[in-house]
Amino acid sequence: MLVTSVIPLVERYRDRLPVTESTPVVTLGEGSTPLLPAPRISERTGLDVRLKWDAANPTGSFKDRGMTVAVSKALEEGATGIVCASTGNTAASAAAYGARAGLRTVVTHAPGALARGKVSQALAVGADMREVPGGFTEAFAEAERLAVEEGYALVNSVNPYRLAGQKTAAFEIVEELGGPPDALLLPYGGGGNTAALLIGFQEAGAGLPRFFPVQAADRPHTAASAIRITDPVHRGEVDEALERTRGAILTADDDEILAAWRLLAREEGLFAEPSSAAGVAGLALAGLEPGSRVVCVVTGHGLKDPDAALERR
Ligand code: F0G
Repeated sequence: MLVTSVIPLVERYRDRLPVTESTPVVTLGEGSTPLLPAPRISERTGLDVRLKWDAANPTGSFKDRGMTVAVSKALEEGATGIVCASTGNTAASAAAYGARAGLRTVVTHAPGALARGKVSQALAVGADMREVPGGFTEAFAEAERLAVEEGYALVNSVNPYRLAGQKTAAFEIVEELGGPPDALLLPYGGGGNTAALLIGFQEAGAGLPRFFPVQAADRPHTAASAIRITDPVHRGEVDEALERTRGAILTADDDEILAAWRLLAREEGLFAEPSSAAGVAGLALAGLEPGSRVVCVVTGHGLKDPDAALERR
């Protein structure tokens, strides 16, 4: 019987990734996610909008694209464990790939900062969850300390293998559209995904979309918990993406993000987590020419944050 399945991201783009024949590929069948037309949002905005539904990755977020590469390399390089600081999705992804690889996974996080779906995912696959007083910045410092002092591989997006994997979303978009869109809108937390997609579009060699990373107006307290990050570690690369592509950072308040989140769910049938609707919230703020071809990256699944929906019925 012929069995078809998703081609693992590392196999699909092997020639453009930092892997060799001897890299043990740790995969859960990530990548190759749908690029969905958004007819109702297009009609409302007067733009030609498509949604890169990266929630369709194995653990329900775009993080799996980077994690397959980072964990494969950690295994190749002899790590005994991996560590990350997280607002939840990196944690769930690292823990799942860690389990698959047989590596211990330690997650540091701020108190009360993780949506319930993400905590349950990480715990189910055996992560060692450690609460650190403060916010994401303090959790990240603790993860760095554990990496240095206990020899774990750090799998936050400062790990270049993460960005190498995440850039593949740009390859898929260019292949499917036959070129880059006019504009790319995506949530802006730490900026790793923006940095990765700039690399991806550059390497795809077909031209660059204008980049519009969308951040929460109240970064430290936003209801979009995934992007509750005060100091974006990739700020410099994000600024470079704006300069190179005539883009801009857009800022949406929680009402705008949640309105976009409802629109995605009720008019396009996509249940995302709130942060993931930031790109869609940015459509009203970007000042794009009518008819522009736009891709919004929808980064994480709604099941990640069930309380967001239950509290706002
Ligand atoms: N969307 C989702 C669903 C996320 O989980 C994150 C970041 C972002 C967008 C922002 O991406 O940081 O590359 O700009 N989540 C990290 C985590 C911080 O720990 O899961 P970015």
